[in-house]
Amino acid sequence: MKDNIALIGFMGSGKTTVGRQLAKALEMKFVDIDKLIAAKESKNISEIFSEKGEGYFRRLEKNIVIEESKDNNVIISTGGGVIIDNDNIKNLRKTSFVVFLDCDIECIYNRVKRRKNRPLLNVENMFETIQELYEKRMLLYKISSDFKVEINSDTNIYDTVDKIKAA
Ligand code: S3P
Repeated sequence: MKDNIALIGFMGSGKTTVGRQLAKALEMKFVDIDKLIAAKESKNISEIFSEKGEGYFRRLEKNIVIEESKDNNVIISTGGGVIIDNDNIKNLRKTSFVVFLDCDIECIYNRVKRRKNRPLLNVENMFETIQELYEKRMLLYKISSDFKVEINSDTNIYDTVDKIKAA
């Protein structure tokens, strides 16, 4: 039964912030896949990438998606790359109403540019890297979701939460 809500979207689209607020509003449990991965490894995401590699991170991500999808009545905030793996999408869609936070690229860039906690964006040409990944992934986010909410720099988080609640 689809009684969870999974939030998907690009880095910086607000999955964690919206997820926490949505969980409060709907009185549901909130889980963040990246936080669970970091806790499991006792390392932050950047350390996991640099010490063990992206492949290792993706395997952990997949296992934790499987575990968390089994839970009920939970809001699942995913990492931006969760849609790369088709099994992740299958697992999430089986158990969750999947919501795509469709944040525009300027808004994403403005949110992530000063933060150093995203290994894939820890590069010289951050905007171009975002652009490339964004183009590669956009279709996957769209076809993987049951519902899409558009977000830009002027969007109020409470409006986003209300739209998801209504859906
Ligand atoms: C990633 C997104 C990150 C994190 C990791 C990889 C990605 O999560 O899972 O750095 O591939 O887009 P956020 O979307 O929460 O930043």
